[in-house]
Amino acid sequence: MFYKRRSMSIPGSRFPIVGLRCTLFLRFMPLTSDEQTELVNAAKHAYENAYAPYSKFRVGAAILLESGEIFYGCNVENASYGLTNCAERTAIFSAVSALGAKQVKIRALAVVNDREVSCSPCGACRQVIHEFGPTAEVIYLGPDGIQSSSIQKLLPDSFGPESLA
Ligand code: THU
Repeated sequence: MFYKRRSMSIPGSRFPIVGLRCTLFLRFMPLTSDEQTELVNAAKHAYENAYAPYSKFRVGAAILLESGEIFYGCNVENASYGLTNCAERTAIFSAVSALGAKQVKIRALAVVNDREVSCSPCGACRQVIHEFGPTAEVIYLGPDGIQSSSIQKLLPDSFGPESLA
């Protein structure tokens, strides 16, 4: 399993990121620039394991959960091209496999590629990010470098679990 447990703390805070009150608070708290850099570096680490013999476009993603844990993922291609799994979904599915879906509440996701070209999450990944992080911050390479957005902006009028309730 390709993941690593880590925790992030709020700079200057003596309190660990645990408990209901904290996680509800964190859900709406943007990452500091240091935390963004840390998550981007984690995503860069992740593309080392990318399997991209067809596109030669290696992608890495890292997700920060409300619990403070970070999970990684890379793109995994296939000779039957349509079966390719993007880095973002690999990271999310690793977290779900390791923790169970109830524990996977995405606070932020970063995605980068080894060519450092502009690349935001594809439509399929936006849908999966929304499933486990309906308010997630999304950090990616835009035309002017690293930029931060939100899944609400990237996937407006979304279809989600509440649509089926
Ligand atoms: N890819 C990702 O892993 N994430 C993205 O956000 C965009 C595209 C991968 C899929 C495929 O392996 C390669 O990049 C080229 O499309």
